[in-house]
Amino acid sequence: MAIKAVLRMGDPRLLERAHPVAQFDTRDLHALVADMRDTMQALSGAGLAAPQIGVGLQVVVFGVEHNPRYPDAEAVPDTVLINPALTPLGNEMEEDWEGCLSVPGLRGVVPRYARLRYQGYDPFGNVIDRSVSGFHARVVQHEYDHLIGVLYPMRVRDFSRFGYTEVLFPDSPPLEE
Ligand code: NI
Repeated sequence: MAIKAVLRMGDPRLLERAHPVAQFDTRDLHALVADMRDTMQALSGAGLAAPQIGVGLQVVVFGVEHNPRYPDAEAVPDTVLINPALTPLGNEMEEDWEGCLSVPGLRGVVPRYARLRYQGYDPFGNVIDRSVSGFHARVVQHEYDHLIGVLYPMRVRDFSRFGYTEVLFPDSPPLEE
């Protein structure tokens, strides 16, 4: 379909709450998903939320193939998740580096729930219901935040671990979402 421009931090549209998708398996929805996949792949992102391309709907895409450059980043299945609901499984939090296609050139350490269940729908209206942990859980929380108008710098607690990617990680930066 098309590679879209990704809105950057400072654009008020990134701070809005997205609306639920009311109808599945429509031409418009499939076109939106195709644009999001194309845009995410073009930018080598791990995930993308519809508000990042200026569409205020509860649609996110994410997925990470195993990459030898990132041996610690576990593979995450290619997923389109619509109208998601998240339920933390336990109170354990984990800290790790995050980046965002809407905050290019920066990385920061963000606390996230270590384990969670997420529920939602694929573009055809089929139910998705998964319990996940680690990087997979982190990516879902990051993308979900985009649907409620939250960017990861708003969750950084320790700003001594927030900075320019090329300074922090001259060799292999963590993926952007
Ligand atoms: Ni992001």
